[in-house]
Amino acid sequence: MKVRKAVIPAAGLGTRMLPATKTVPKEMLPLVDKPVIQYIIEEAVAAGIEDILIVTNRAKSAMDDYFDYYPELETRLNQAGKEKELFEVRRAADLANIFYVRQKETKGLGHAIWRAKRFVGDEPFAVLLGDDIMKAQVPVTRQLIDAAETYSASAVGVQYVATEAISKYSSVKVTPLEGRVFRVSDMNEKPTPEQMLSNYAILGRYVLTPQIFDILENLTPGYGGEIQLTDGLQKLCHTAPMVAVDFEGRRYDTGNLRGFLEATIDFALDHPQTGDWLAQFIRSKAKSL
Ligand code: UTP
Repeated sequence: MKVRKAVIPAAGLGTRMLPATKTVPKEMLPLVDKPVIQYIIEEAVAAGIEDILIVTNRAKSAMDDYFDYYPELETRLNQAGKEKELFEVRRAADLANIFYVRQKETKGLGHAIWRAKRFVGDEPFAVLLGDDIMKAQVPVTRQLIDAAETYSASAVGVQYVATEAISKYSSVKVTPLEGRVFRVSDMNEKPTPEQMLSNYAILGRYVLTPQIFDILENLTPGYGGEIQLTDGLQKLCHTAPMVAVDFEGRRYDTGNLRGFLEATIDFALDHPQTGDWLAQFIRSKAKSL
């Protein structure tokens, strides 16, 4: 089982980040000096992915433009001797083979993934949500691919979340296999504490087999009237092997303001150009609070 392709659903409306996301896709908001989507593409590439499909919509063409060449700008940077900027602008466009498909109606994450059917064909593939950023030593997508390959199974990335918070996520029913890997036998979307199957919640990364497409095609709308990926995964785990990986790393949901700010601060503290300055700024600010 070799995973060469990834799908990044990025066609959501981003209503939790309005008004900023009215005209700027949330995936294009800058996290320090790069847009959110670039971190996600970089994770996929670091995990060994070669071809990436971004699921977009009519309001998100800034993403296609970002990963394209921009000859006029590059000539100007070249003439001005701005080598570092030129390198970074080019690097973004050369990161991977990037493809695009539009989700013509915002019918939910499951529907967005289903739009990748032709791109994926008959291979296993990774899914990285377009607004979930991971900070990890080993790319989280790589951790999932390793488990999927070892167990010839689909894989979902999970972490332990507090009972009070589980209703924001999908919970999974698991039995231990080995180390940080579990067998998945069931799952549910946005459960109440009474309905939750465990404290392990699915967080933005998946490795799926193409069987998921037939399931998604026949799903009826679930939670929130949308075609839910979790409903499809629930059916998949009943008919084919699936593992959950309690991945090592920190996940940031940049699709909400608090997650976006946490990511901004953490990444800026790690950045060579801003780290020392920001640490000093925070210290002096904290004194006056
Ligand atoms: P989210 O629920 O986090 O994104 O979907 P959203 O719909 O943009 O969020 P809000 O609630 O309006 O702020 C999880 C992922 O699924 C994608 C989103 O882009 C995000 O990466 N998605 C969601 C789609 O691609 N299409 C959809 O119809 C819904």
